[in-house]
Amino acid sequence: MKNIVVLVSGGGTNLQALIDAQHRGELGNGRITCVIASKADAYALERAKKNGIRTVTLVRRDYPDVAAYSEAMTRLLQDEKADLVVYAGFMTILDEQVCSAFPYKMINVHPALIPSFCGKGFYGLHVHEAALEKGVKLSGATVHFVTEECDGGPIILQKAVEVKSGDTPETLQKRIMEEAEWKILPKAVQLFCDDKIEVVDGKAYILE
Ligand code: GAR
Repeated sequence: MKNIVVLVSGGGTNLQALIDAQHRGELGNGRITCVIASKADAYALERAKKNGIRTVTLVRRDYPDVAAYSEAMTRLLQDEKADLVVYAGFMTILDEQVCSAFPYKMINVHPALIPSFCGKGFYGLHVHEAALEKGVKLSGATVHFVTEECDGGPIILQKAVEVKSGDTPETLQKRIMEEAEWKILPKAVQLFCDDKIEVVDGKAYILE
């Protein structure tokens, strides 16, 4: 069984989707062993506790800089014997030492179709504000491997979602979560845990 460690910062609806998938037996050869939050008041922690999943809080401002925080996170993930690290609404910056310790073993869900509306500053509602500002008719979600390049790692799964007239950042966020994120994140985790993803020349391929 692969140990899945989930990193969270907020409401944790993507964590919930993973927990629900686990209850349905849809995480393949993996199980969620620990949830790590960057904020002590993250509601995601309650979701984990309700489901008997161990939680750890690693608060960014308890560390002097990104390097010290990243070192503590790397050590924690190693202690947890993480086989897969899932960023599920994790909003705190980590540096390259974490990526080098877990090469192609960390995945992130991003609420847009990468390479649109991604990179530094594009997180949470800001992503949907930018999509509405541009007037795109389709947006969606992407699950990708985490590398040193922000939102630039190999793309595993994507799903498009319609933008409707009258959408606000909040309504678009909700539709993208319901129709895309909560589906493709558990699916990508299942594929990873069943060894069905291969990365060749910086591109991810799903093995049939
Ligand atoms: C989700 O929409 C997730 O894709 C996004 O934050 C939200 C977290 O919601 N993540 C990012 O923007 C990361 N760049 P949740 O806490 O309810 O899962």
